[in-house]
Amino acid sequence: MLALHGYFPKTLSPYPIGTPKLETSIVLCKDRILKVNCCNPNRQTERGIEFDIGGAFYRHESSTGRDLGILAASVDRQSKGGLRVLDAMCGCGIRSCRYLMEAEADFVLANDANDEYRDLIVGNLKQVERDETRWVVCHSEANRVLTERYLQRDFFDLIDIDSFGSESMFLRSAMLALRLGGLLYLTNTDGYSSGGHRPRHSLDAYGAFVRPLPFANEIGLRMLIGGAVREAAVLGYHVTPLFSYYAYHGPVFRVMLRMNRPKILENRDYGFIGYCNRCGHSQAFSWEELGKIGCSCCNSEMTTNVSHGH
Ligand SMILES: C[S@@+](CC[C@H](N)C(=O)[O-])C[C@H]1O[C@@H](n2cnc3c(N)ncnc32)[C@H](O)[C@@H]1O
Repeated sequence: MLALHGYFPKTLSPYPIGTPKLETSIVLCKDRILKVNCCNPNRQTERGIEFDIGGAFYRHESSTGRDLGILAASVDRQSKGGLRVLDAMCGCGIRSCRYLMEAEADFVLANDANDEYRDLIVGNLKQVERDETRWVVCHSEANRVLTERYLQRDFFDLIDIDSFGSESMFLRSAMLALRLGGLLYLTNTDGYSSGGHRPRHSLDAYGAFVRPLPFANEIGLRMLIGGAVREAAVLGYHVTPLFSYYAYHGPVFRVMLRMNRPKILENRDYGFIGYCNRCGHSQAFSWEELGKIGCSCCNSEMTTNVSHGH
């Protein structure tokens, strides 16, 4: 699967035969220390929360991305006095557990299309929160659950979409289910597109014709933000990036956006990024400058990408 190319943690593979039956052991994984339960390798600990990963997709390296989402949610709850979270692709449910426990969400809707994870997700949530009015688990396709919430006028303060690949198909339904002023936490794990190796695919997904550039990781984030800006504009809203985060594993590109009241897009928000293959200079260009793009070093043509330029 494209989204999963690259580094896989070998330390989570089965233990050698004869591993002593210790309660926990410390395993070095790249530059991090993992605490793993030897009796049950599916048992994990993240920021003090113990949970089961069963057969669900879980990556310890993604914990920083989860930390950032939980921090933003927590700050948002403090400023608004309430927090309702929709975790659209929850896997084993660790993210939902953390939104409940650490961000003190009033309510979390934990969804994963795979209904075989039901007992796993429910078990993990029950361990952190016995009050079952504070969470619900469902198993719908993400677009369906988001659209149903929108049709019920049941809006959320934060929607977290932890998807694989460059799946921009959830943008519109997520924006519709979001409360005005709410937070949208998006993901892209398509390193081929951000690296400029699939320009037609990035054009379809995000409206960005990306070509190989030395700052591919930044382009990957701008491509994702740009796609969201365009989709919000279609609905008559505008989104503001609060933070973006690139992680080498995957790779994973994550951006947190706030959805704001309608506003006419300013040209400086959306344009082109040029890169001179001769001198290495890069520059942003507006739509009005299209056709006049060149580099002052030699008046040569620049490689250009349509991208968001906040
Ligand atoms: C990257 S994993 C989620 C990991 C989890 N959020 C975490 O932090 O550990 C993506 C999950 O999305 C689910 N999924 C894939 N496509 C989906 C869709 N269209 N709608 C809902 N869930 C989907 C998969 O079953 C998988 O568990």
